[in-house]
Amino acid sequence: MITNVTDKIKYIGVDDLDIDLFESQYVVPNGVSYNSYLILDDKVAIMDTVDSRKSDEWLDNLDRALEGRKPDYLVVQHLEPDHAGTIDRVMARYPAMQVVASERAVRMLPQFFYDVDFEGRTIAVKEGGTLSLGGRTLHFVMAPMVHWPEVMVTYDDKDKVLFSADGFGKFGALSHDEEWACEARRYYFNICGKYGGPVQTLLKKAAALDIAIICPLHGPILTENLDYYIGLYDTWSRYDIESEGVFVAYASIHGNTAEVARRFADILRAKGAVKVTVADLSRDDMAEAVEDAFRYGKLVVAAASYDSDVFPPMHDFLYHLAIKGYCKRRIGIIENGSWAPSAGRAMRNIIDRFKDVSVIEDVVTIVSRLKPSDIPALERLADEMLAEKCDRCVE
Ligand code: FEO
Repeated sequence: MITNVTDKIKYIGVDDLDIDLFESQYVVPNGVSYNSYLILDDKVAIMDTVDSRKSDEWLDNLDRALEGRKPDYLVVQHLEPDHAGTIDRVMARYPAMQVVASERAVRMLPQFFYDVDFEGRTIAVKEGGTLSLGGRTLHFVMAPMVHWPEVMVTYDDKDKVLFSADGFGKFGALSHDEEWACEARRYYFNICGKYGGPVQTLLKKAAALDIAIICPLHGPILTENLDYYIGLYDTWSRYDIESEGVFVAYASIHGNTAEVARRFADILRAKGAVKVTVADLSRDDMAEAVEDAFRYGKLVVAAASYDSDVFPPMHDFLYHLAIKGYCKRRIGIIENGSWAPSAGRAMRNIIDRFKDVSVIEDVVTIVSRLKPSDIPALERLADEMLAEKCDRCVE
């Protein structure tokens, strides 16, 4: 697909609608786009390539968009293969073209392309580095760990475009018109969630730029209401709470813990919870569960005991939260066990790795099945979860 971003900037990226799992782990029911752009000024610059899965289609787009011209530069903002997978083929096609990338990226290029001769073909840029294309200058802003260490973003001072690498990206092919926030949030917390600090650093640098258009490497080009998108990124990267609500995540073997979780959710609703979301960690999308854990300020985990530990889907979920830097939330624990309940202790062992969380000390223990005598303990846990209103929520 080729579209005009501005008079001199064309979108030349591709949709991937036949990928089974993005990064071999994320379901993408509406596919994903690998964005790439072409700047046709006095000099011609390509802004990133695409995943090798779609090289042919992208090279065809590039060829048509060039309209007989030849690229002078390939700007590589991010070396992850979903964007860098066609560097070798485009370099071979245009032998005079130079690759412009951060110093770290230039050092890393041979790791991915050991059989490409980069001698004399790279320009390493630093923070504040520039590249004149004639009618405009590209300004390079280093963005390490937004998502990888070699990442940089690029500002076009003529059209006021920020090429934002993975930042402001989302799952979903461009052929699917859908709300931005849902899939952008799932993308953010699962891909960049651990790197809130580096994202904050980048947002502070971006605040000094006059930005009219954001061109990310996934998802739609953002041209309006930029404060909305930047505001959400600010909330997410500060690990602030976006929405008032309680997320109840359960891992149940035979359905008994599921019954407890659903009853607990009903109790929360009856007590006036603004929003209660429930996830079955054995069946629902893990990436969406991670997203919801970050979105809301309160999390209740309910799990069966298993092999003197916790049922693995819950272990997997809490492990995901731990490596993504989960923090600043209120957490309640429900365990189920028929002879030697161990899930509560096992969950707490992982939760203790989270920073700045307040954990309700009284674990609710269910023995095999929910009984009327368990309801008062669930009521008390619900009261504790709802005791504090969120004063940091965006909505
Ligand atoms: Fe879209 Fe970090 O690659």
